[in-house]
Amino acid sequence: MRLLEEKIKKDGRVLNENVLKVDSFLNHQIDPNLMNELGKEFSQLFAGEGITKIVTIESSGIAPAVMAGLYMNVPVIFARKRKSVTLTDDLLTASVHSFTKNETSELAIAKKYLNENDKVLIIDDFLANGQAALALVEMVQQANSSVAGIGIVIEKSFQPGAQILKEQGLRVESLARIASLSNGEVTFITEDMEELI
Ligand code: G4P
Repeated sequence: MRLLEEKIKKDGRVLNENVLKVDSFLNHQIDPNLMNELGKEFSQLFAGEGITKIVTIESSGIAPAVMAGLYMNVPVIFARKRKSVTLTDDLLTASVHSFTKNETSELAIAKKYLNENDKVLIIDDFLANGQAALALVEMVQQANSSVAGIGIVIEKSFQPGAQILKEQGLRVESLARIASLSNGEVTFITEDMEELI
């Protein structure tokens, strides 16, 4: 998505070869107009899938997910992160290890918000190793709901997440795909590059 790529080029900061900082519009301060466009794009990409709910993870997935929910006219559920989940009776749970932050969190969604008739779109801000998305898929499956697809704002295509998810037969749509963060520069995957992959 051209608008997002331009925003990343203009306001993103490459911290190192693995990490892109986008605190000024996505991870801390939020650009509502950009979120609106991201939500519209997700709703167009997944139109016709019969989506009934959107599931994301706190905190940075919430803004793009809510805008998508507005365009698709469906509720948005965010998985909560807790240090440990002890009472799990009414909860769907999964644990997720972040390689980027080197920490493990327990995720929880109240069972009452998902059921077997739901077709779920999972949305998240970053796709790196795919662990967060896989944990969300696991919770959706615990509810016997189906996963219609995964919408990602920024995919770091040089990390294995996208491939892992696609190998599981999941539809992944990323609005910006980063081929590399080498030499302090963001290089996106263009359509010509895609033909070579
Ligand atoms: P994975 O879920 O794809 O396996 O990714 P990973 O464990 O490596 O990343 C976990 C956390 O780090 C997520 O945030 C994710 O959004 C964030 N992250 C991963 N790569 C980058 C990056 O290059 N830049 C930035 N800014 N964040 C990155 P989180 O722990 O869920 O935090 P929150 O911001 O959503 O609260």
